[in-house]
Amino acid sequence: MIMRDVAIVGVGMSKFGERWSSGLKDLMAEAGIAALEDANISSHEIEMLYGSTMASGRFVGQEHTAALMADQLGFHNIPAVRLENACASGGSALRQGYIAVASGIHDIVVVGGVEKMTDVTSGEASTALGGAGDQEWELFQGITFPGLYALMAKRHMYEYGTTEEQMASVSVKNHDNASKNQYAQFRRAITIDDVMRSKMVSDPLKLLDCSPISDGAAVAVLVPLEKAKKYNDTPIKIVASAQASDTLRLAERDSLTEIKATKIAAQNAYKQAKLEAKDIDVVEVHDCFSIAEILAMEDLGFYKKGKAAKAIADGETTLNSKLSVNTSGGLKGCGHPVGATGIKQAAEIVWQLRGDAKERQVKNAEVGMTHNVGGSGATAVVHIYKRAD
Ligand code: COA
Repeated sequence: MIMRDVAIVGVGMSKFGERWSSGLKDLMAEAGIAALEDANISSHEIEMLYGSTMASGRFVGQEHTAALMADQLGFHNIPAVRLENACASGGSALRQGYIAVASGIHDIVVVGGVEKMTDVTSGEASTALGGAGDQEWELFQGITFPGLYALMAKRHMYEYGTTEEQMASVSVKNHDNASKNQYAQFRRAITIDDVMRSKMVSDPLKLLDCSPISDGAAVAVLVPLEKAKKYNDTPIKIVASAQASDTLRLAERDSLTEIKATKIAAQNAYKQAKLEAKDIDVVEVHDCFSIAEILAMEDLGFYKKGKAAKAIADGETTLNSKLSVNTSGGLKGCGHPVGATGIKQAAEIVWQLRGDAKERQVKNAEVGMTHNVGGSGATAVVHIYKRAD
């Protein structure tokens, strides 16, 4: 039972990309200071921190990252807890922050995600990311994350006639949005032809079907709605927070063409918010691979199974069309520093609902959603947001 309403009063993010000259702490500070300034709040007022990183030990040899973030941001001696839920670490931290404020245990909670992935080789990064799957039955046997999503893509193509060009249109759209985002890793538009000609990573997924290896951080400040206007004139209310899980192993799933955890989390979120898919104006979905955005659009209820790929290729989800999807550029264009992604998605929706998204602003955006997935779908987190005024 929800005891009190929760609002986001401040968000900040670092530039995403290959940040060779910045360390983990620099990224935390860049995003954290921006979020505190946005919330007009002092570091001494923060009561609790949930910090998310997926594999900082393997990427940069640093564990204990929540206490490190609290220290770096000047939140001395508060409880600081690290959240690890693979690529859904950020969304899970946001949900824990939401629960802490909704329950009345804390008033002012910061959620912050960070990952610095580019200090290791792509092979080492791939092995670290592989920890999100079933080590014994999947990764040890030689499959990588592009390989797991390639299996889902092949099955979707077989069952629904989805084409490689339709998948490519997801990347084209997301790069186009990213070109309008000052924080994005890739600020360049690409064409279907560019995607089709890019090197094969795991058939049918090519380089430009994949999200990149990235560095970056994102932070949000949560308070009870009743106190929100003290910090920000345009607080954004979290109207639903839902999460679900599934088997880590693809082999034990009922279907390769849906992410069941997404479906369950979405159904619960719509119920909490008393809303339906048709009420959403802008959504950030977990497009770690182009096929993942197609699955998300179906599993979140925006399209019937097998219908999303054509709709995306027809332009129904470009900026200011029927539904604006991944206006930040998504994981594909904006970048995917895994521990930060879920909180970056929330930051983008906050900017959209406030009307602060500049060149990529969705007109009259009133209801937003974020969808963050861990691994190949063993965790899914869905949040729905509304302007509080
Ligand atoms: N999209 C666009 N460009 C990319 C890219 C991507 N996903 N990945 C790399 N590039 C670019 C690099 O910027 C570089 O460009 P440059 O030559 O102009 O500097 C070039 O391609 C080669 O980069 P490199 O790092 O050598 O590529 P790689 O082959 O080692 O790695 C992937 C490419 C796709 C294998 C890697 O990005 C990857 O593993 N992505 C998936 C990450 C993942 O699994 N995340 C978790 C999801 S659940």
